[in-house]
Amino acid sequence: MIANTPLAGKSAALRIIQISDCHVCADSNALYRGQNADRNFQEGLRLVTHWDPVLILLSGDVSEDGSRESYERTSGLLAQTGVPVLALPGNHDEPNVMKQYFPLGPWDGPYVMEMGNWRLVLLDSTEAGGISGHFSSFRLQQIQSCLQDTDRQHTLLALHHQPLAVGAQWIDRYMLETPEQFFEVTDRSSQVRCICWGHVHQDFQTQRKGVSLLGAPSTVANTIPGMQRFTLDPVGPACRWLELSRRGEVHTGVLHAG
Ligand SMILES: [Fe+2]
Repeated sequence: MIANTPLAGKSAALRIIQISDCHVCADSNALYRGQNADRNFQEGLRLVTHWDPVLILLSGDVSEDGSRESYERTSGLLAQTGVPVLALPGNHDEPNVMKQYFPLGPWDGPYVMEMGNWRLVLLDSTEAGGISGHFSSFRLQQIQSCLQDTDRQHTLLALHHQPLAVGAQWIDRYMLETPEQFFEVTDRSSQVRCICWGHVHQDFQTQRKGVSLLGAPSTVANTIPGMQRFTLDPVGPACRWLELSRRGEVHTGVLHAG
């Protein structure tokens, strides 16, 4: 079961905010699905400051057009929060530009950050020129290596693409290809507690073999969950909060700006 209530009071849990699918353009007035991406991103950031996380995880499609300007503005605003940022690319991002503004990420293979008795592993599931997610056999071997020496640490894996269908055809047609190969690797580790992603523009939560599987909403435009076509949810900008307890429990939920 996934716990949807925060741990009471100040605990030793790691408090993380996952921000996803901001789709900011070079032009700050550009609209994404009728919504101003810059304005909504800034509204989403207000949630971050309020929630007081130790880390922000950006799970891809920070930019709509891969432009230097989009990364410059988003990284500048994130820096103002004073919270460390980890980032991974989505299919809309331009990794060679993005990594100049978000250096902590899976730019040369999986990126591992250890925090207390948790290990966060960020993955690049993008393929140049493609919309769907893809892991080469080499990349799967790298992921397996990352998971081999985590005997005493709980592990969270983050990627952009959903490794299972979320029940929305408009985006499930672009999910991670051959997800069974990915799960074959993650199933070999007894320490994986959570796998989280972006891309789906909706809150999604389920469990598989005791692992929490979580899809994050977007800061710019979300669909009503479970709709086959993108159907704008008037709820507005949103992001995921996570509390990872010392015992390996995952508490999570969604913050809305409205
Ligand atoms: Fe995406």
